[in-house]
Amino acid sequence: MKNYLEIKQIIKSFKKKITVEGDKSISIRWVLLSSLSKKRSISNNLLKSEDVLNAIKCVKILGSKVKIRKTRCEIIGSGLEDKFKKRVLLNAGNSGTLGRLILGLLVNTKNKVKLIGDKSLSKRDFYRVTKPLKKFGVKFFSNEKKLPIIMRGSSNPKSINYFEKKGSAQCKTSIMLAALKSNGTTNIKAKKSRNHTELLFKHLNIPIKIKKTKNYDFISVKGVNSINSLNYNIPGDISSCAFLMVLTILSKNSKLIIKNININPTRTGIIMILKKMGASIKTFNRRKYKGELIGDIIVQSSKNLKALNCPIKYNSSAIDEFLIIFLVAAKAKGISHFKELSELNKKESPRLIWGSKILNYMGIKNTLTKKSIKIYGNPKLRLNKSITIKNFLKDHRVFMMSTIAALTFGGFWKIYDLNSIKTSFPSFLKKIEYLKG
Ligand code: S3P
Repeated sequence: MKNYLEIKQIIKSFKKKITVEGDKSISIRWVLLSSLSKKRSISNNLLKSEDVLNAIKCVKILGSKVKIRKTRCEIIGSGLEDKFKKRVLLNAGNSGTLGRLILGLLVNTKNKVKLIGDKSLSKRDFYRVTKPLKKFGVKFFSNEKKLPIIMRGSSNPKSINYFEKKGSAQCKTSIMLAALKSNGTTNIKAKKSRNHTELLFKHLNIPIKIKKTKNYDFISVKGVNSINSLNYNIPGDISSCAFLMVLTILSKNSKLIIKNININPTRTGIIMILKKMGASIKTFNRRKYKGELIGDIIVQSSKNLKALNCPIKYNSSAIDEFLIIFLVAAKAKGISHFKELSELNKKESPRLIWGSKILNYMGIKNTLTKKSIKIYGNPKLRLNKSITIKNFLKDHRVFMMSTIAALTFGGFWKIYDLNSIKTSFPSFLKKIEYLKG
């Protein structure tokens, strides 16, 4: 099957209601936490993307029993002690979240584990988790900075004090998972980042204390002997929803209602940023579910978009959405400035560089540094040229950003690596077809 998408026309106006697939961060956390309970956990609407399916493969290798039936998934885990008898090989595929979280989970393995990943993941930094994990007593028998990593856990992991400075929920969660299996209390001072793990721990009655200050969260987690089952209805992923929101904002006379989305404030930076740029977005039907905030989103075509000097306080809660936000900046009047974003170049591909590259192809002036970008918006831009996008690391979000650019700015696009959407949003193109009507 061809692995590229050609787009030659902008999308016509649409007025529709839609849902998106389950949240990736919560799906991976559900799989990993359920694998630690000996009881049966059931989820509904688990995201069936490659990242999550790889998480399922890993926990099966580690001893969990998993059944998937339509929208329902069932896991009977192997408990907190590891049950596998020999050295195992785990493959995290493309997923930084899975790769980093599972290393925390392996803090007490008696046998060696080799962790590998795909070409993109093998370029990413793992020292950010291997360094604190060593303090628990984990031993590494390979390079500690990049995959492949060979490690063995400690028979008696010690609790630690840890300062998470990057605002990385992956690092924070990896250490929280290791803390669960350790003796004593692990204390974490963490720069603000998504808090799904904290909410799940609270829901599971795991002894956790959280004190919030303006810039940091102080989290302490006590080791436990067992954990409860985790039944969960997984809400829609705002990071998938983001692409359809921007498609609507940049299309003429269009309106979209997206139902049942996780609008946890640690994830809604995109809504704050786009609203400040003059986009028409509202959340309604807001309700709490197991500590998470869920709601429906209504978004409409927005004409007079204005540039934004984006406050860095939104960086962490919009970290996966900047590529798509850059398209709104391309259409906005004035110069937008996004700063302190060096972490964006450490994602599935160097996204700050790729954002700039795609804007260059579109003829949008921008100035790029190692950690910031200035985008000179052009509200009148209408493309009439050919653009080919081939991201050598097959980044799903580069593919989806390019698709939305093609559908809203025009031109003749050939976008490679269509298969990359299987990583996070397998039904992306089906949803676009539905909107095309
Ligand atoms: C995630 C955290 C973020 C985000 C990633 C998912 C998570 O990464 O970019 O897509 O589920 O914890 P960092 O922790 O590296 O910021």
